[in-house]
Amino acid sequence: MNTYKVGYIVGGLAKASINRKLALALVRLAPKELKFAEIPIRSLPLYTQEYDADLPLVARAFKQTIAEVDALLFVTPEYNRSIPGALKNAIDWASRPPGKNSFAGKPSAIIGASPGALATAIAQQHLRIILSSLNTPPMIAPEAYIRFTPGLITEKGVVTDKSTERILRRFTVAFQSHIAERMPAPAAVTSSSAAS
Ligand code: FNR
Repeated sequence: MNTYKVGYIVGGLAKASINRKLALALVRLAPKELKFAEIPIRSLPLYTQEYDADLPLVARAFKQTIAEVDALLFVTPEYNRSIPGALKNAIDWASRPPGKNSFAGKPSAIIGASPGALATAIAQQHLRIILSSLNTPPMIAPEAYIRFTPGLITEKGVVTDKSTERILRRFTVAFQSHIAERMPAPAAVTSSSAAS
C-alpha cells in the first residue's frame, strides 16, 4: 500500500490546546501508511495583500512545507461559531499570491474538539466552504465532532474512551481512502524500464 505524507494544522494557538491532543491521538491511531507532521502557523504575520509582490521568508517556508505533503488535516477549535482567526490567516497565506494556491488539489480532512455541545460543528462547516473554494477537497464522511471532557485524551494523545477511539480510528482509515482516491496512480512499469 502507498504511503502518504499528511501535514496537519492545529487551528488555535493555545499552548495547552485540546485540539493538539486530538491531533496527537489521530497520529497514534492512524494506519501506518499515513506519515504525519505538524505544519505550524504560530509565526505567520497577519496577512495583507501588500505581501503578494514579495512574500516574507516565513510565508515562503510555510508554503513550501505544504507543497511537500500529499494531504492536509485540519484539527480546529471553534471560536465564536467559526474558525479561529489564526487559522483563517494561515489559509489566506497559503492561498496567495494569485495563481500560487498551495492547497490546490490536495485532499483534506476536517476535525475538531470543543468542551461545548456543538463540538466544533459550525466551525467545521465554515472551514468546509473555505477549503472547497481553494480546491482542497475535504473528506465528506465520516464527520467527527469531538466533545472534549477532562481526561478524554492525554497530553501524549492517548484516548481514554473506547468509543471515541473507535470513531477516531475510523476517521483516519476513511481519510486514507480519501487521499488514495485522489492521488495519481503510480507510474506503470514498462518492460524497458523494468529491464533497466
Ligand atoms: C471559544 N470556545 C468556543 N467553543 C465552542 O464550542 N464554540 C464557540 O463558538 C466557542 N467560541 C470561543 C471563542 C473564543 C475566543 C475562545 C477563546 C473560546 C471554547 C473553546 O472550544 C475552548 O476554549 C477550546 O479549548 C479551544 O480549543 P483549543 O485551543 O484548546 O484547542
